[in-house]
Parts: sequence; structure tokens; C-alpha cells
Amino acid sequence: MKTLCVLGAGTIGSFLVKAGLSQGYRVIATGRSERTLLRVKSLGVEATNDNAYAVRDSEIVLISVKPQHFPELATSIPRGLWKGKLVISVMAGVRLDTLRKVMVDAQVFRAMPNVNAVVNMSTTAITGEGPGRELVDSLFRSIGVTYWVNEDMMDVWTALVGSGPAFVSEIVDGLVLGAVSSGMPRDLAYSAVLDVLKGTAENLKNHKGHPVEVRDNVTTPAGTTIRGLKAMEERGVKAALIETVESSSRRASELGKLIDERIRRELLGDS
Ligand SMILES: NC(=O)c1ccc[n+]([C@@H]2O[C@H](COP(=O)([O-])OP(=O)(O)OC[C@H]3O[C@@H](n4cnc5c(N)ncnc54)[C@H](OP(=O)(O)O)[C@@H]3O)[C@@H](O)[C@H]2O)c1
Repeated sequence: MKTLCVLGAGTIGSFLVKAGLSQGYRVIATGRSERTLLRVKSLGVEATNDNAYAVRDSEIVLISVKPQHFPELATSIPRGLWKGKLVISVMAGVRLDTLRKVMVDAQVFRAMPNVNAVVNMSTTAITGEGPGRELVDSLFRSIGVTYWVNEDMMDVWTALVGSGPAFVSEIVDGLVLGAVSSGMPRDLAYSAVLDVLKGTAENLKNHKGHPVEVRDNVTTPAGTTIRGLKAMEERGVKAALIETVESSSRRASELGKLIDERIRRELLGDS
């Protein structure tokens, strides 16, 4: 049985622990605080604060600490231990090239899952190449769906998909408040909006054309839908959504650049 370790078993790391277990690996997970270690143990896996031990004992290494904690993590692991390991980083912003220089002789992939892993519906982007590709893909397929992308898509992915659950939740809240304002009890409105969201997603997937075609199918001349759409236009909802993803993506690039440069300075001695 192969061993997989998760370095930094926090929110996302805990989903990765579950993914490892579902794929039949022996799993070791690490954390710093007693609280994290106790939580990890409750997932039914070995918990330790010894990252070097976890890497030494594993063929597959998942890195899920916050990017700013990576220098401390990396310095706690002797460089020679990375040789021959299959490493997958889910850290936002830390580039493959940087990871490969720190973990010399490892096969390195980057993945960007999202918090919908909690219901096994993570939408995960993966980048990197090597013989471990299928293994990496099936690991993330066990917590949702996977997309293989070029690394230059990772920042916008972080915005659209990583932050996406927050944006969609905000939209849901707005629709619910609109129904409440029109006299519907909140619980009923919330449940109905979630059903509309799920139904529309399925409808759009099935339709395969452009979403405005589905929109136009429910838009009767002088009817109720066109009045609502006009309000959305007047309030610039579409422009706001475009700006939402654009600015979030710009921030992902800014933060990525900062953290990547810091890691290169601290671990690789770049000036
Ligand atoms: N949250 C998301 O939606 C999301 C989505 C995609 C990717 N990511 C990426 O996933 C990573 C983790 O994010 P998160 O939200 O899961 O953060 P988190 O909940 O704070 O988890 C990070 C974990 O790392 C542990 N840790 C920190 N330094 C460590 C060290 N030296 N040795 C061992 N464990 C250490 C922390 O343990 P202690 O608490 O004990 O210090 C904590 O449990 C980030 O790099 C982020 O960019 C997050």
C-alpha cells in the first residue's frame, strides 16, 4: 500500500486526507497546533508535527499550508528527501518553477481545488506533467471534477473557482432578499433559490448553447422576466460580475507574485 502525506491538514488539507483515504492510501497528515493534530486524528489517520518524517515515509506528498508558511515548512525538510517523490501543491500563487527548484528531483504538480470539496464537488484545476498525471487526476476526481490547464490560467482560476463559492453565495443572498422583500418567508425563498440554481446549472449544461438562449426562452414580451432583466441592466449587474472576477484575478496575480518572490528570496537566495 502506498503512503500519501498531507503537509498542513487545515480546511483544504482535510479534504485531501479524505481523498487519500478514498483512494486506498495509508495517510499521514501534519499540523502545528495540538488542535489541528487532534482534528486530524479524528479523521482516522496518523497525525504528526514532524514534516520530515511524513515526507520520508511517503511516496506522494500533498502541500496544503498557506503559501506564507511554505518557507518554514520547506526548511524543516532536508532537501535530499524530495528525491523521487510525487509532490502536489495546492498553495495559491506559488509557481511550478519555484516549487521544482526547492524540491529538486521530485515530480511536481500544482492543483487548485475549491471548498465545494466538502460535498465532493470541488472544481479542481491541475497543472504539471509527468508519469504521475493519472494518479493526481484520480485523487482530485475523488472530491469532484478536474480540469487540466496551463499554469497561466491558475490566477484567474483562483478568482473564478477558488473565490467562486463566495461570489455565488452573495448572488444567492441577493435573490433571497428580493423574494423576502416581495413577501416570501426566508426559508422558503432560500430553498427555492438553491433549487433554481441547481436546475439552471443542469439546464445550461444540457442546452450546450449560449446562456442567453436559455434566458430568451423565458423572456416573454412585456412580461415579468424582461422587467427583472431591465432592473439588472440598470443596476449594471453583468458589468459588476465582470469586474468582480477581473479584480479578484488581478489580486490573485499580485499576491502570487509577492509570495513567489518571497519564497525565491528566502529559499533560493534570489535577489
Ligand atoms: N481555502 C480554500 O478555499 C482554498 C482553495 C484552494 C487552495 N487553497 C490553498 O490551500 C492552502 C491551505 O488553505 P486553507 O484554507 O486550508 O488554510 P488553513 O485552514 O489555515 O490550513 C493550513 C494548515 O497548515 C498547517 N500548517 C502551517 N504551517 C505548518 C507547518 N510548518 N507544518 C505543518 N502544518 C502547518 C496549519 O496548522 P496549524 O493550524 O496547526 O498551525 C493549518 O492546519 C493554501 O495554500 C491556499 O492557498 C485554499
